[in-house]
Amino acid sequence: SMRIIVDADPGIDDALALYYLRAQPETEIVAIGTVHGNVPVQLATANALRLIERLNIDVPVAMGAAKPLAQPLMTAESVHGEDGLGGYAGDEPTTSPTGESAAEQLANLARNNPGELNLLAIGPLTNVALALQIEPRLPELLDKVVVMGGALNVPGNITSHAEANFWHDPEAADLVLAAGFEDLTIVGLDVTMASHAPQEWLDGLPHDCYPRRILGFYADFYGSFLGKAGFVPHDPLAAAVLLDPGLATYREDRFAIELTGRYTRGKIVADQRFLAPGSPFGRDVAPERTKARYAVTADNARFLDQL
Ligand code: BDR
Ligand code: CA
Repeated sequence: SMRIIVDADPGIDDALALYYLRAQPETEIVAIGTVHGNVPVQLATANALRLIERLNIDVPVAMGAAKPLAQPLMTAESVHGEDGLGGYAGDEPTTSPTGESAAEQLANLARNNPGELNLLAIGPLTNVALALQIEPRLPELLDKVVVMGGALNVPGNITSHAEANFWHDPEAADLVLAAGFEDLTIVGLDVTMASHAPQEWLDGLPHDCYPRRILGFYADFYGSFLGKAGFVPHDPLAAAVLLDPGLATYREDRFAIELTGRYTRGKIVADQRFLAPGSPFGRDVAPERTKARYAVTADNARFLDQL
């Protein structure tokens, strides 16, 4: 069975990813770490606790980084609502976070279960970067790592070139791409935008179910952003790719995050030139890094059906 540490900033599509994982057979959410991003980390933590209470699962939740490594905190309430759950966060949670930070939790769980745990990172990568400082062997200790982030050959969503999770902490994202994870998959806007769930999908949900309530605000945002009714399930698609890598096809390459571009800070880049064997040109982008897989197509019909 698949045992997963989720690092998230709930967040409406983060919430939907947790619902999705909860419904999958042979799948266990081992722990949740929270991070700044869609909302401040205190609120993301309260929301993670609220969600596991709703889902009736007993999982440790560790509060993570309150701000990015090297830039001020920026949040995205216009997408997820002031409470991060589209106005339906509801009562205060009855449970509390553990005393550890999310980075400590990740490092400790990985050390105590070498090779056994998978990481699904669906918020900014600050906690994962901090965990690498605590435990430099993290890349060997984790099994699969799936990250939701990036816009490689499509426009960004938060700036013209950058996707939100990477833009919220570009330095952290770059450290993670440089860390040498052997089984690292990146699920970015190239595939998530194409997995747009139309209004008919929403209409198919039971009327009073919680996901339907919280998706209202998110669908209003995407309706005005894209000019068509529906929403984009970024984080659930990343969860689905972790469970079923055959859902997508990939570009294998070495990736970096642009840190200094005037218009491109936070953008993921790779050297995508065709270079013939023996070509005098070397790879420009991060030639020393371990390769990762970047999802370029996904079976959206199959995914939306599962979701
Ligand atoms: C990502 O940013 C957040 O708004 C979503 O939760 C998702 O993780 C999409 O760019
Ligand atoms: Ca998220």
